[in-house]
Amino acid sequence: MADLSMSKAAPKKAVGLITLTDQEFNSLVSFVKTKYGINLEKKRVLIEGRLSNMLRERGLTTFRQYMDILFKDTSGAEVTTLLNRITTNHSFFMREKEHFDFLQKTVLPYLERTHPGHDLRIWSAGCSAGQEPYTMAMAIDEYFGPNKSKWDTTILATDISMNVLEKAQRAIYEADNIKDIPEKWRSKYFKRLANGSYQVCDKIRKEVVFRPLNLMEPFSFRKPFDLIFCRNVMIYFDGPTKEKLIDKYYNVTSKGGYLFIGHSEVINRDTTKYIYLQPAIYQKGGGPA
Ligand SMILES: C[S@@+](CC[C@H](N)C(=O)[O-])C[C@H]1O[C@@H](n2cnc3c(N)ncnc32)[C@H](O)[C@@H]1O
Repeated sequence: MADLSMSKAAPKKAVGLITLTDQEFNSLVSFVKTKYGINLEKKRVLIEGRLSNMLRERGLTTFRQYMDILFKDTSGAEVTTLLNRITTNHSFFMREKEHFDFLQKTVLPYLERTHPGHDLRIWSAGCSAGQEPYTMAMAIDEYFGPNKSKWDTTILATDISMNVLEKAQRAIYEADNIKDIPEKWRSKYFKRLANGSYQVCDKIRKEVVFRPLNLMEPFSFRKPFDLIFCRNVMIYFDGPTKEKLIDKYYNVTSKGGYLFIGHSEVINRDTTKYIYLQPAIYQKGGGPA
């Protein structure tokens, strides 16, 4: 799931830690797994560490009391807070740079040739705070150059965490987060703010539309996607959950469309309907030559 940067996240202070009983732990694990695909089976310490303070601030003394509130809440607010606390949405610009090279050298030339309508459908699924879709938008802008205005290449960027989506909309990043961006992109696509951080320029921001979406729920779209990035999201999903999601992606990929996953993730090449192209890159067959 979310880069639940799990193991490193032990609480700094164990003072006042509220511990989970086995029953509470199993019930919380099952809730999160069923609804969000996230496997917290080995994350007991992380949950206690990240949630104890919040429980205490709310005057709760046990996880049972907390879960009673969580399970009954129909507004979505409780679960949003939970996900914001237990997931770490680590991401950075130019992550897995080879993907952006392949995008410019292979994917975009193919899509340019096969889309006379000048309309590409692109999805960054599990976009975190926007680093991935904005990097895609910069790569696309550079590829099309002066012809970009003739193309609609709007990127749909979705995540389950409202926290990261708000950050993504602001598009403001610390210098460290953009350190892998080539200098020519930095000067072209970012503005430096007075406090030393950087904001993505309006032209690139307009290319990305952010929306909340839980990948565990059924999804359908008006038109299929020519390119889907779902990188470093499935790491914490178990095998069947991942396979189901890949099938769902396949159903919303256009013929000849591409799926990019994270380099540390694997798709079972014997069962997937996608054609394997190279590590972490797949294509749906049947597209125009
Ligand atoms: C580690 S970040 C990866 C960000 C980016 N794709 C990258 O590779 O840098 C994983 C993101 O997946 C999101 N995520 C996890 N489970 C999800 C789910 N069930 N539905 C939608 N997004 C989810 C998390 O909130 C998190 O922002």
